[in-house]
Amino acid sequence: MTRDLPKVELHLHLEGAAPPAFIRGLAREKHMDLSGLFTEDGGYRFTDFWDFLKVYEAATSTLKTPEDYGRLTKAVLEESAANGVVYSETFLSPDFCGGRDVGAWREYLHAIREAADKAERDDGITLRGIITCIRHFGPEKAKQTALCAAETAGDWIVGFGIAGDEKVGKPRDFLWSFDCAREAGLRITAHAGEWGGPDSVRDTLKDLNPERIGHGVRAIEDMALVDELAQRGTVLEVCPGSNMALGLFPTWRKHPIGTMFDRGVKVTISTDDPPFFHTTMMREYDRLAEAFDWDEGVFRQIARTSLDAAFCDEATRARIAKRLEPENA
Ligand code: ADE
Ligand code: ZN
Repeated sequence: MTRDLPKVELHLHLEGAAPPAFIRGLAREKHMDLSGLFTEDGGYRFTDFWDFLKVYEAATSTLKTPEDYGRLTKAVLEESAANGVVYSETFLSPDFCGGRDVGAWREYLHAIREAADKAERDDGITLRGIITCIRHFGPEKAKQTALCAAETAGDWIVGFGIAGDEKVGKPRDFLWSFDCAREAGLRITAHAGEWGGPDSVRDTLKDLNPERIGHGVRAIEDMALVDELAQRGTVLEVCPGSNMALGLFPTWRKHPIGTMFDRGVKVTISTDDPPFFHTTMMREYDRLAEAFDWDEGVFRQIARTSLDAAFCDEATRARIAKRLEPENA
């Protein structure tokens, strides 16, 4: 059932989607010794979320040129398309692509878009980009990232967000960057409620006023907040397999996505950093179907919620909507 269902993914870090074999290949080409990053069976090795961030950044250090990012984009989109994803939004960070220099960032973006255009023709998957600043790099670097975002905002770079270590700083420290991105016409999402508790979600809503929250699952510790999310129509980019791999919840059945869906919160399903967390969109669907007895109708409803919350233009949304119709898929 899940293989053939058309899927919409809103929360995918491009570097975090890099297959470990791809990163090992790049390291070999560039004579970099990254053997400590991998387990014996070839996966990424990390102990907890903070170690994950270090391994993520070390793996990303192999991606040194626009061409590397073009190859990465191709590999990632082939895998997404094989999982039935028809539309994807990916987080991109000028922090990693050209060191926050606008000219260099444009070159990286050009290579990524070229690969995405080819994947659209070859694999039938549509990609759009959301620029993220990295919270633990601090607000000053985030301003440069926001300027890169503002310079390249348009029909392909459609959003701005924040990722990284939620325990560092406060959402309001990044207000300048979010205002800059918003003025450039970018739509807003922000990671919150993954490692921070319900207050991190409340602070993020109050200070950054995002349309979407990345994760948001720890809102479950405060049911009044869950109801507020439902009432505001805030969309949660939920990544259950990521949460399970990082040990946020004891079992799939105890993952809050089930309760949140039942209470009317607009939940969506994504993979975050799939090879790190040994997941794929198909695996997310299979585990959720098993845990909550969700049928095809629920997954179709969630795919539609995801498409409605996508940051693309209306012509693109209408084109993808056709692919979600049961008679076309
Ligand atoms: N960067 C990549 N994956 C992330 C996650 N799950 N949370 C915060 N920052 C990230
Ligand atoms: Zn994320």
